[in-house]
Amino acid sequence: MELSGRCVLVTGGARRIGRAIALAVAGAGAKVIIHHHRSASEAEAVAAECRALPSCQGAVTLAADLAQASACLALATAAEDAGPVDVLINNAAVYLKTPLASLDAASWDAVQAVNLRAPVLLARALGLAMRERGEGVILNLTDWGTDRPHTHYLAYAAAKAGLISASAGLARALAPEVRVNSIAPGAILPPENASPEYDNAVRSATPLGRWGGVSSVTSTILFLIGNDFTTGGNYLVDGGRSTR
Ligand SMILES: NC(=O)c1ccc[n+]([C@@H]2O[C@H](COP(=O)([O-])OP(=O)(O)OC[C@H]3O[C@@H](n4cnc5c(N)ncnc54)[C@H](OP(=O)(O)O)[C@@H]3O)[C@@H](O)[C@H]2O)c1
Repeated sequence: MELSGRCVLVTGGARRIGRAIALAVAGAGAKVIIHHHRSASEAEAVAAECRALPSCQGAVTLAADLAQASACLALATAAEDAGPVDVLINNAAVYLKTPLASLDAASWDAVQAVNLRAPVLLARALGLAMRERGEGVILNLTDWGTDRPHTHYLAYAAAKAGLISASAGLARALAPEVRVNSIAPGAILPPENASPEYDNAVRSATPLGRWGGVSSVTSTILFLIGNDFTTGGNYLVDGGRSTR
């Protein structure tokens, strides 16, 4: 798909990787809908940055708490009104530490709601509309570590594993009009307030010896939007981490 003149919804687009994705698609000539939850002022700032790019076809913000199923459906409706949406990028997620000793139904459900249910509800609502119009692209941000889940992040890893599976199922269900892929990042950006020890451990566990930075993800996003023979895949962007 050629991005110029298309409308792209980026969930969690106010900060970090989502912000970089919004700027990248705006720079490629798209109109961007920047979804946010708590980061309203940051989302407005990203929208202004996007609009300042000569190629950008417009940028708006929409708020939604993706932990609520009804809010996911309302976001899809509002985005269609602002769009219609040609490309959905499910980037928003919670990275909640859930050690087994403290894992309970509430923490499990909270992670599944945002990291698995919300992207699927958005993909269903917007994907069916894209299929009706004859064309669309959906990209889901997953994680390199689903096959070797960190013991303190069982709920997160299980949700991301579910999202990889759901992406493949959605790819089959929405083909041939709509393509659905997932991107499995490794160490892209350190969590906020990561310790120097954590930073060193991640670098030494990554064969390429560094954090990927946001361009490693945005270049993959642009590649997958542009490559019309990709669907159902989960693309590792992990600096080789999964080989160890
Ligand atoms: N960072 C990495 O190195 C890395 C590695 C592997 C995978 N990933 C994946 O790549 C994606 C982006 O990573 P990131 O580190 O940039 O993410 P992040 O900063 O942890 O979170 C992205 C956004 O998700 C939104 N969000 C959280 N809970 C929400 C809710 N209940 N409703 C709506 N939005 C909610 C937040 O929006 P607000 O700020 O507006 O509340 C937040 O800014 C995620 O899917 C992540 O799992 C990242």
